[in-house]
Amino acid sequence: MSISLSPDRPPIDPYPLSPYVTWAGNRNRDPILQVFKEIFPKSGHVLELASGGGGHINYFAPHFPQLQFQPSDYDVDVFEPIKQKRADQGSSNVADPIKIDLTAPETWPDPKGRLYDVIFVVNLFQVAPVNIADGIAQVAARVLTKDGFVAIYGPFKVDGKHTTESNEAFDKEILAAKVPEWGLKDVRDLEKAANKHGIALKKIIDMPVNNFILVFGRA
Ligand SMILES: C[S@@+](CC[C@H](N)C(=O)[O-])C[C@H]1O[C@@H](n2cnc3c(N)ncnc32)[C@H](O)[C@@H]1O
Repeated sequence: MSISLSPDRPPIDPYPLSPYVTWAGNRNRDPILQVFKEIFPKSGHVLELASGGGGHINYFAPHFPQLQFQPSDYDVDVFEPIKQKRADQGSSNVADPIKIDLTAPETWPDPKGRLYDVIFVVNLFQVAPVNIADGIAQVAARVLTKDGFVAIYGPFKVDGKHTTESNEAFDKEILAAKVPEWGLKDVRDLEKAANKHGIALKKIIDMPVNNFILVFGRA
């Protein structure tokens, strides 16, 4: 979701069903899939947070027929589009979406229920408050299996600095919208939030167009 010189980029709009989010998803889904093919387990359960229109989970699921995928979002208006994409794709390993609001513990999955081998989230932090990291860490602490991991994709600052000029320009562009919680977040702030809940940053994977996949697991 970081800035591109691509002339076909629609205007920035974080609404999950916007042309911009669809465009960004179409651009990043194959590079993410390549990494997931390397790091996903052979079988088990995968939870996506902030699924939006369901473009990623429905694109990935057919590549992992031995895994069961659970989409989620806090915005229940995206549930029908997620189900529609599942029907279009004919995926039998994508469950009905569930409501998880990362700021509302009463919506978080029950640790006595299903545990997840993987939790992933794409392009949330640049349009959410940094304390969302606390919610993700607490959900992970509740429902991640012992050897499970959390994969967080997006553009981030590292140690207070932008990693590239293009990410700095992208950050300026979203900050110009003057929505208080928008803007690139710092990997170290995510790490601090995770550490409070027994979750640790294990790996930073460089992705195209100056994005990252941050991999967290139990400390
Ligand atoms: C920019 S969209 C990205 C959607 C999708 N992951 C993608 O990459 O296409 C951000 C998503 O985060 C969701 N979201 C924002 N705040 C959230 C929260 N507190 N809890 C759960 N989801 C949230 C929004 O509803 C939206 O679907």
